Amino acid sequence: MHITTPSRSASDLRPIVAGEVHLWGLRIARKRAGVAPDLLPAERAHAARFRSPDDRDRFVQCRSALRRLLAGYLGRAPSGIDLELSRFGKPFLAGSPLRFNVSHSGAIALLAFARDADVGVDIERVREMPDAQDIVDKYFSQADKAAFRRSACDTRAFFEIWTRKEARLKAEGVGLSGALDAGDAAGWETVGIETDPGYAAAVAVARPGADVLALRWLA
Ligand SMILES: CC(C)(COP(=O)(O)OP(=O)(O)OC[C@H]1O[C@@H](n2cnc3c(N)ncnc32)[C@H](O)[C@@H]1OP(=O)(O)O)[C@@H](O)C(=O)NCCC(=O)NCCS
Repeated sequence: MHITTPSRSASDLRPIVAGEVHLWGLRIARKRAGVAPDLLPAERAHAARFRSPDDRDRFVQCRSALRRLLAGYLGRAPSGIDLELSRFGKPFLAGSPLRFNVSHSGAIALLAFARDADVGVDIERVREMPDAQDIVDKYFSQADKAAFRRSACDTRAFFEIWTRKEARLKAEGVGLSGALDAGDAAGWETVGIETDPGYAAAVAVARPGADVLALRWLA
């Protein structure tokens, strides 16, 4: 069970102990972001290529929060952090035990951090999905199909199952190019995250029994 705590600032953070997952939430402001001072030139160029102002806002504010949190955990300036990209596009820190992943949907971004264990996070705004049953038939494992049936094909249940699956694939770093119909496997802890009522979210970490701390909202 996750309890949403009042807003905090990145300065509240304390070091991550191996076996813990720290979760941060960010409410995306609709401010049609211009330049974010924490972003590197390549990230600003990336932001400038978004056609949708909402997508640009989400990327800029989430990346800026990521840099500020990484800076806090690593004791460095936000702009002094080099992020690398894996073969499938997952940002990571080379040569550091600190692992992280971000997800954004609608007006919320989630950022997850762990030490010495791959972590993935996913959030989806719960919305009408006319093709939900097709996706279930094609991509859900037998256990997930059964869980969806038990929910009487409820849309929220669909997104709860989906986010658990995507969080796990994002932890592995393969994203949606991974085996979507793979069921839960040993070696992973996957936990649902409560944010706002209109959203479903989950975090997965490659450490069974990991201590997933309550979500903290950035001020
Ligand atoms: C990653 C992926 C699952 C994103 O799904 P989404 O629901 O649209 O987006 P989310 O908000 O949950 O996650 C996006 C974030 O995940 C991270 N990310 C990108 N690729 C990732 C990957 N392969 N694994 C884990 N995380 C990834 C990024 O930080 C990204 O946010 P940013 O662009 O603001 O930095 C999807 O784009 C994907 O499957 N990508 C990999 C597939 C592939 O083959 N890509 C080839 C391009 S190199």
